[in-house]
Amino acid sequence: MLIKQNLTRRSFITTAGAAALASTVVEGAAEAPASTALKIIGVSCSPRQGQTTASAVQTALDAAKTVDPRIQTELIDLGGLNIAPWSPKPPADDMAGILPKLKDPALGGLIIGSPCYFRSLSGLAKCFLERLAPLREPRMVLADKPFGVVTVGAFRNGGQEMTIEQIQAILLCYGMIPVGGKAPAFQGATLWNSGGDTLAQDTLGLDTAKKLGIHVAEVALLLASKTK
Ligand SMILES: Cc1cc2nc3c(=O)[nH]c(=O)nc-3n(C[C@H](O)[C@H](O)[C@H](O)COP(=O)(O)O)c2cc1C
Repeated sequence: MLIKQNLTRRSFITTAGAAALASTVVEGAAEAPASTALKIIGVSCSPRQGQTTASAVQTALDAAKTVDPRIQTELIDLGGLNIAPWSPKPPADDMAGILPKLKDPALGGLIIGSPCYFRSLSGLAKCFLERLAPLREPRMVLADKPFGVVTVGAFRNGGQEMTIEQIQAILLCYGMIPVGGKAPAFQGATLWNSGGDTLAQDTLGLDTAKKLGIHVAEVALLLASKTK
């Protein structure tokens, strides 16, 4: 199997190194052509539809949209959808409706949101990220596109940064470019569900989500201007 060979052959890049590379991109440094629409897709990987992870990703998307009129956004909420792990026989599930959106040439970048589950990414996030495998062959469709990660935990320090790193490590295998927020959100968006399934009290965390969304949009515009 091609996928198996690629996975065993591939060399791993350290997440920290690549993230540092992405953080060197200059703020809003270049312009994509005026007519080019760029889509930033946010994916909420909580099994609970419309809850804190979805809300945090939407916050990042709303901020991304403020960067430039060419930025369009869409939230894909995986809550309630059926997404199986990768399997040699592609499962017939809701991934079929999602993959075409990610193959759209207008895709400028991704914002992936996961709740912290045992200081790690959710099983749903792992399934979703594995099932992007068809986007690696025959062409690395997601290569050189920026992504940011949004995480939500019930504890202030509940594994948000580790969860971000884990998702970054996976998306590096798709050739994507990790993007953080801006100070103090260098690694990405780290939110706290402080009780009652609301983020309203977490002004610091909401700020990291906004900063991440803005930076992903800026880098998407910058990269798009370089590839035209
Ligand atoms: C199985 C499970 C494991 C969890 N583990 C952690 C954890 O390690 N750290 C943490 O801060 N919160 C943990 N939580 C809490 C969730 O991350 C938190 O409630 C989050 O807001 C859920 O996202 P949602 O509202 O989008 O579903 C866990 C929740 C569940 C259900």
